[in-house]
Amino acid sequence: MNNLNILAIETSCDETSVAVLRNGREILSNIISSQITTHRVYGGVVPEIASRMHLESINLIIEEALREANMDFKDLDMVACTKGPGLIGALLVGISSAKAISYALDIPLVGVNHMEGHICANYLAHKDLEPPFIGLVVSGGHTYLIDVKNYNDYEIIGRTRDDAAGESFDKIARALGLSYPGGPEIDKLAKIGDASAIEFPRVIIDKKTYDFSFSGLKTAVLNYINNEKQKGNEINIADVCASFQQAVLDVLIEKSFRLLKEKDMKKLVISGGVAANSKLIEMAEKVGKEQGIKVYYPSKILCTDNAAMIGSAAYYDYVNGKKDELDLKVYPNLELGE
Ligand code: KG4
Ligand code: ZN
Repeated sequence: MNNLNILAIETSCDETSVAVLRNGREILSNIISSQITTHRVYGGVVPEIASRMHLESINLIIEEALREANMDFKDLDMVACTKGPGLIGALLVGISSAKAISYALDIPLVGVNHMEGHICANYLAHKDLEPPFIGLVVSGGHTYLIDVKNYNDYEIIGRTRDDAAGESFDKIARALGLSYPGGPEIDKLAKIGDASAIEFPRVIIDKKTYDFSFSGLKTAVLNYINNEKQKGNEINIADVCASFQQAVLDVLIEKSFRLLKEKDMKKLVISGGVAANSKLIEMAEKVGKEQGIKVYYPSKILCTDNAAMIGSAAYYDYVNGKKDELDLKVYPNLELGE
């Protein structure tokens, strides 16, 4: 197949992002306009505001992505967008723009699963990475352990039964009075805290399942904060951050490496916003070294939401025969592999 110039659009949550890729692994531009400072005032993403801000900026970001890639609309061979999961109004902005471009230029349209995009961020970061591998996808809304058998062939082995890993970071940060999103704040403070200061539960559920559960841990941390406040004790925020973070990461690491061992696989590929966590990467690399497992993760900018990862996933969808028509819908609750 000839080179494909792909314009990719991501608007599932609070980042308006547009990228231009050549095939599945070469980024020509990846513009990310974050709405975080606006939503921070409210302590989380306000869906209605997110849609409006996407609408206001999408055309400018498309133009900027083309300009940076030194391209014109006529140079494009394909357009991709996130079809879900995400906020319905936010997704609609990206999908409508992608449809308009597909129609006007008469080029193929590919709607991408956002979570598959997160996995594909690793193909951009590691040119040599090929499936099969075990994927740990940890974002604000989802937590998955996956057997990635091939491009486009995913088997979910474990998922969260309640809160996602990133969601638990955000909720605990909020209870501690830290700003949104909580992950980076906790990551930073945990560095100066003592991870063994407070014994929070590690919810492994039972050893047979690879599912996760983080709501019990969240409750334990919230109870600890309330009890200390009631006793009039001053809370050591850095110690709470470090102890909470360690409890989340111990479970993620234990399950990931147990699965690698069970499947006799040698590659662990971490992705999603929580993959930006410095301690998670440090722990994964340490255990990986001990057990002869290579650990892959993207650069910070490719961990959190961006359109380049959507372009990469679209490429592998397209070369495997997937393509959408102009009646493509948005799927706010899309599961990985759908
Ligand atoms: O993948 P992402 O950008 O958006 C979703 O698809 O959800 O992930 C955002 C999540 C948020 O919950 C945020 O707190 C978390 O990723 N996050 C982190 C870090 N950076 C972002 N969590 C832990 N440590 C970090 N350094
Ligand atoms: Zn995401």
